[in-house]
Amino acid sequence: MIDPASPAAGRSPSGITYNLVFVPGDGIGPEVIAAGRRVLEAAGRIFGFGFEWHEILIGGVAIDAYGVPMRDDDLAASAAADAVYFGAIGDPKYDDPRAKTRPEQALLALRKGLGLYANLRPVSVQPALRASSPVREALLEGVDMMIVRELTGGLYFGRPSEQLKTPAGREVVDTLFYTEGEIRRVVTLAFELARGRRRKLTSVDKANVLASSRLWRTIVEEVKLDYPDVTVEHRLVDACAMTLIQRPAIFDVLVTENLFGDILSDEASVLAGSLGMLPSASIGEKHTAHGLFGLYEPIHGSAPDIAGKDVANPLAAILSGAMMLRWSLGQATAAEAIERAVASALAEGYRTPDLLSATGDATGFKPVGTQAMGDAVVAALGGAPGISPGISSGTASRTAASAASGSSGPAGTVR
Ligand code: IPM
Ligand code: MG
Repeated sequence: MIDPASPAAGRSPSGITYNLVFVPGDGIGPEVIAAGRRVLEAAGRIFGFGFEWHEILIGGVAIDAYGVPMRDDDLAASAAADAVYFGAIGDPKYDDPRAKTRPEQALLALRKGLGLYANLRPVSVQPALRASSPVREALLEGVDMMIVRELTGGLYFGRPSEQLKTPAGREVVDTLFYTEGEIRRVVTLAFELARGRRRKLTSVDKANVLASSRLWRTIVEEVKLDYPDVTVEHRLVDACAMTLIQRPAIFDVLVTENLFGDILSDEASVLAGSLGMLPSASIGEKHTAHGLFGLYEPIHGSAPDIAGKDVANPLAAILSGAMMLRWSLGQATAAEAIERAVASALAEGYRTPDLLSATGDATGFKPVGTQAMGDAVVAALGGAPGISPGISSGTASRTAASAASGSSGPAGTVR
């Protein structure tokens, strides 16, 4: 049985080298993940561990190179690693609805092939970004939720999923299929997480219409019997989408099926000020010597329109790295230090364009690109001085200890 409430908590082995599979992917993936990798390396130097990176091509870049979105060998290499650190995939080149091969197939095959049935998407609002969220500041007070998205079932994987030509015209079908076991394992994980937090679980469904949602709801009620200390509520997904913006602070842990979770988590990113702020961890039952095996990726996509311009926000990728340290690598202290360093960089005024556009005004801020934001986080962590313009040596001289005891508050903490 997994113990998600305290993933390898407190263990901080030093001198260790972790084997990571590194997947830059498409669009802005290579840029954000490069910044994240530099932050992880810096944390490793400070806390006494290192990484061996095994880079693989997945997604549009793999279709270009090998003709397939993912090779079997690359799935096997991912399964053999301590964790997978993932950028983003998707390329408009493959958007043609008639295309047989699409980059996204690789990500789905990776999630399924690695048994990563639960996707954890923590949503909090950095204090420094409260004013830049389009949502009124007063509503953001106390926002701290964990969206648990079922990741290997539902409409994404149900078969049949196809378009047919019939004498009466074209027909299309997608299938929302779940086994009882698939629902129970993700719901149980969500209960465990709620137990380690504020003990409130919101299950999101469409039980007034969908049979799959009615079984989902029944199973939540069954599992609830084992968690009398957790308060449970059921919400319909449409109304929940509204409440998520109107009263976001009422949520603690949300659990929902694959597609609902995909949609609600993008919506929730508005609270955080940008889609570029939200990290994620995909986990299953498998353990390694260091913690739970997992795949870590920002919730955002490949954003081809801004790719290659050094403008994408790397913070979701950087925070995904922190989640990897906590959940898969047994380095909770280093994870917290990275989260505090992110909060410090924002408090010091560093902003990528997505975070500035919300305010529409750069006055008083330090506009930076992807790599310079990474440098700002490394500097706040107490790592090597930033090499990009605009990073003050004052921040670089801070130590890990001062970053770790900084006054940035818990909002950057991803539990
Ligand atoms: C996400 C993304 C993916 C998904 C895409 C890229 C397949 O939107 O991780 O949220 O739909 O799961
Ligand atoms: Mg999505």
